[in-house]
Amino acid sequence: MASLADTPIDLGADLPSAAPPGRVYTRHGVVTRLCHWINVACIGFLIASGLNIFNAHPSLYWGNFGADADDNRRWFEIGAMDDAAGKAVGITRIGDVHITTTGVLGLNRASNGQLQQQGFPDWLTFPSNRDLATARRWHFFFAWLFILNGLTYLIYGLVTRHLQDEIWPKLKQLAPANLWHDIVSHAKLQFPRGQADKHYHILQRLAYSGMIFVLLPLMIVTGLSMSPGFNAALGGFLPSLFGGRASARSIHFITMDLTIAFIVIHVAMVILAGPYNQLRSMITGRYDVGPEPTARKDRP
Ligand code: HEM
Repeated sequence: MASLADTPIDLGADLPSAAPPGRVYTRHGVVTRLCHWINVACIGFLIASGLNIFNAHPSLYWGNFGADADDNRRWFEIGAMDDAAGKAVGITRIGDVHITTTGVLGLNRASNGQLQQQGFPDWLTFPSNRDLATARRWHFFFAWLFILNGLTYLIYGLVTRHLQDEIWPKLKQLAPANLWHDIVSHAKLQFPRGQADKHYHILQRLAYSGMIFVLLPLMIVTGLSMSPGFNAALGGFLPSLFGGRASARSIHFITMDLTIAFIVIHVAMVILAGPYNQLRSMITGRYDVGPEPTARKDRP
């Protein structure tokens, strides 16, 4: 039942590949697959509705508070201003760095084609019109679905030992020589083939563990830190962990940026490693490890 169980399956006529028995096996259990795609939908809606919420006040601060009057305390903001020639430009500022982002951030076109001053453009937000109340409702709906789905994945992964055996990095895989070998192979776009491909390699384990055990929990806790209900119940304990509510909001935004970076690299790797085989494994479970390389050196 474990997702990456070494369970050779009989090659039925429905399998397009003419791989010999033992090369194709069930890589992902049904719970892992369902949780993965529910997670993709949740993350998509959470990001898009989160950007709509962010547009209500497109600035970030450290500490407890941050408001329109706190101009000099913003470390990040998206806005619009007139340039020296009096022409409106969109500006994104990170600390002292000002980046002109006209057309996308700060100054962009509404769905009716009109130029508008707005943080993120309509086509990136959900709903696409500026509507804080609706965006918050969708954000909280998908946040709870995301938490329930994540808990299901975690419990299933612990019970089947998928997390312990296949996701958590193994000590010997962390040896510098092995790490370096994987970095170099990835840079050369050489991926493991044959039996070595039946288990995640160290870079995958580090990336997945980083998401599952660090980034996504941090995203959830910083999100809950902004909830008035939770703060009333816990006496402000959660925001105090991050140095205040405004800091929690900043960290929440940064976890979103890092999640987007993970998704870009993750999807690029799926495409580079063979999208048909990879996606099939996350849809039907079946994965073809490919022929054994001619000279394979066993690694942890
Ligand atoms: C459209 C976007 C995505 C696609 C096409 C995609 C595709 C895949 C595929 C094909 C695998 C299997 C890789 C393998 O067996 O070697 C996988 C695994 C995984 N993906 Fe994604 N993914 C997407 C988005 C995401 C997102 C948003 C997250 C989390 C934020 C995520 C987290 C993971 C994790 C943790 C695994 C390992 C699952 C396990 O084995 O338990 N993916 N993904």
